[in-house]
Amino acid sequence: MTPDESVVSSFKRAAAERAVDFIQSGMVVGLGTGSTAAFAVRKLAVLLAEGTLKDVVGVPTSRTTEALATSLGVPLTTLDVHPVVDLTIDGADEVAPDLSLIKGGGGALLREKIVAQASRREVIIVDAPKLSPRLGTKWPVPVEVLPFGWRSQSLFLESLGARVTVRLALDGAPFHTDQGNVVLDCDFGPINDAAALAARLDSRAGVMAHGLFLNLTTDLVVAGPDGITHRVR
Ligand code: A5P
Repeated sequence: MTPDESVVSSFKRAAAERAVDFIQSGMVVGLGTGSTAAFAVRKLAVLLAEGTLKDVVGVPTSRTTEALATSLGVPLTTLDVHPVVDLTIDGADEVAPDLSLIKGGGGALLREKIVAQASRREVIIVDAPKLSPRLGTKWPVPVEVLPFGWRSQSLFLESLGARVTVRLALDGAPFHTDQGNVVLDCDFGPINDAAALAARLDSRAGVMAHGLFLNLTTDLVVAGPDGITHRVR
C-alpha cells in the first residue's frame, strides 16, 4: 500500500466506524460490499463479540461480504426472512452534491440496489476524494447485463453516448457478477441528467442493473483530511 492508499484507507475506516454507531441492538442491517463496507463489517463483528450490540442480523449484498461476515461470526439472514432492512451501510464510487451515487465498482450493484431499496435507512460511507461536482466526472457507470445479447447492449449503451469497456476479472477473462452476468463499464463523462439516463437504462430489456443510485441515500458519512462529516437527506 502506498502512503496515499494508506491515508485513503484510514478515511474509509473512519467513515465506516462512524456509521456503525448508527446500528442498534435488534436491527436487521444491510452489509455493503467493497473495501469501505468491509471495515464496517469488521467493526460490527467486534461490537457483537464484546456484547456492546446484541441480536443484530446482517443481509449481505454479495458473496464476498457473506464470506467475510461468516468468517467473523456476524449472524446473517436473507431478504426472504427479513424483507425490510432497518439500516444498510455501504460504500460508493462517486457521490454528487445531492447524494446521488455511482456504485458497482465491486460488481455487486444489483444486490446492493435491491438491499438499498428494501432499507429504511441507506448510510453511504466514503473517503472525501469520492465527492464529485457531477456524477460521471470521476467514474464510469457500471451496467450489469445478461450474457444473452450483451454485444447488443454494448451498442445500445454507445448509442446513449458511452465509451464502453467490458469488465475483466484478474485473470483477464470477462468478470461475472454473483448472478453470472456481465458488467459493461460506461464512461459517459459528466452526466447532465442522471434521472433521464437511469430511466433509459431501466427500460432496456437485458439490462439487469446499473450503478446510478438516485434518491436512495438517506445518510452520507464522509471522512477526509478535515475529519468526519455526517449529512442527512
Ligand atoms: C461494490 O459493488 C461497490 O458498489 C462498492 O461499494 C464501491 O465500489 C466502493 O468500493 P470501495 O469501498 O472498495 O471503494
